[in-house]
Amino acid sequence: MIKNKELEMILETIDLRDDAPTDEPMRQYYFIKKAREIICAESEKLGRCLTADGETFGCQMNAKDSEKLIGILENIGFEMIEDESADLVFYNTCTVRDNANQRVYGRLGFVNNMKKKNPQKKVVLCGCMMQEPSVIEKIQKSYSFVDLIFGTHNIYKFAELIVAMYSSDSMIIDIWEDTNQIVEDLPAQRKYAFKSGVNIMYGCNNFCSYCIVPYVRGRERSRNPKDIIREIEKLVSEGVVEVMLLGQNVNSYGKTLEEPMCFAQLLQEVEKIEGLERIRFMTSHPKDLSDELIQVMKYSKKICRHLHLPLQSGSTRILKAMNRRYTKEQYLELAYKIRREIPDISLTTDIIVGFPGETAADVEETIDVVQKVQYDNAFTFIYSKRTGTPAATMPNPTSEEEIKANFDRLLTVVHKTAEERGGRMVGETHSVLVEESDGSKLTGRLSQNTLVHFEGDACLVGQIVDVKLTEAHGFYYFGKINMQEHCLQELLQKSMKKKLIG
Ligand code: SAH
Ligand code: SF4
Ligand code: F3S
Repeated sequence: MIKNKELEMILETIDLRDDAPTDEPMRQYYFIKKAREIICAESEKLGRCLTADGETFGCQMNAKDSEKLIGILENIGFEMIEDESADLVFYNTCTVRDNANQRVYGRLGFVNNMKKKNPQKKVVLCGCMMQEPSVIEKIQKSYSFVDLIFGTHNIYKFAELIVAMYSSDSMIIDIWEDTNQIVEDLPAQRKYAFKSGVNIMYGCNNFCSYCIVPYVRGRERSRNPKDIIREIEKLVSEGVVEVMLLGQNVNSYGKTLEEPMCFAQLLQEVEKIEGLERIRFMTSHPKDLSDELIQVMKYSKKICRHLHLPLQSGSTRILKAMNRRYTKEQYLELAYKIRREIPDISLTTDIIVGFPGETAADVEETIDVVQKVQYDNAFTFIYSKRTGTPAATMPNPTSEEEIKANFDRLLTVVHKTAEERGGRMVGETHSVLVEESDGSKLTGRLSQNTLVHFEGDACLVGQIVDVKLTEAHGFYYFGKINMQEHCLQELLQKSMKKKLIG
């Protein structure tokens, strides 16, 4: 990430009559400058600013990638709007389940009609779905109006690809199978001023048998801790109080570094950053969650009391077929240990129903784990066959009706346990990071990741305030801000000062 002022100073030194440099990120700075010229000329022709819209599907990784893409678009002169009628629209796609793909094809049908009315419009596709050769074939055949396609490994090249797109009449496709490169110091536009995702690693080496992510995100590679710390320090200097460290399996952070370092050590370094108030992370694979991490969480003042610990299935037989590398008993032991060491923690999970060969008895095992662990929330998915993964060739005799019945049974238990857990903090006062305001109604988040709605001034967005939790409503609370008048005035002044500096 680079601050705009620094970028401007670098751009001034670049002469576009020279050839593009080969080293990164200098090459991309060169293309940012070149793209600015192109977009400026297009704007002059039109007599107005060019607009762009980004539509993001999938997980936090994609959300973070979209912030980088938007950062580049804004830097080269686009005005971002939230409307697919924009002059450029990008779809950052997900392919984890088939319905994610279908949604993108649906959007493309819709945007094709818009492009017929405005042939200058540029349609860009990127993200995980584009890493699948069958998808590219289909787009070439049935959606030939698309202008640019790239994948997950080369998003840092967006400025260069935009220059290529505006210099060509045909579809540009740039997909890399894998990469070991991590390009730092490119601009990014943050969605929130006070919280931000921070990539700590890319890719995944786990190859769970149902999952397409390792194929579309490539091999696991960790960012250098110095780059991570530098990015967070910069974010904090800009007003960020909460970071979410992102990786498909953060617990194996650091294994690929020249000087290996574990996730617990990284967390301790992040904790030292002054001004940073909250640390979150996603996602933890149970097989790699160390005792050291539990201890670091237990004694931390900043790491949030929330752990997302995907279970996937409670049946040891199915877990083996899923290649998850833990048993039901090992998972339960881990969950109990975490609850024992950090009693106020909230645990959430992901569960798949309908994996090939899963029976009603297997689902009973999963329900048993849900009842024993008492998750605060669980995301339940129906298994989706992903071509190219080992599970795709496994026979699946269970009928759709049976799968649906199993899914519904599980969901009922998930809701019941979450509701029971939800009430446990009523009457207590906890700190809440205020995230949104709707008139005088504020919405914030507890350290446990649960949402709280309460009355308060919109100026408090981005601040951490004490809220008494008055009512539980399943996955959220109603509360009352707990503050002396003079403290409130102080916070309001702090927030005004931050805005003026910003
Ligand atoms: N890296 C994370 C998860 C990334 S995908 C982890 O290991 O937990 C998010 C969730 O999607 C997974 O946890 C899983 O529950 C679900 N998922 C992945 N592949 C799926 C498939 N083929 N069908 C249904 N759900 C799937
Ligand atoms: Fe997929 Fe498993 Fe990797 Fe998570 S850990 S991204 S579920 S392969
Ligand atoms: Fe989807 Fe890619 Fe994330 S497949 S879940 S957007 S890593």
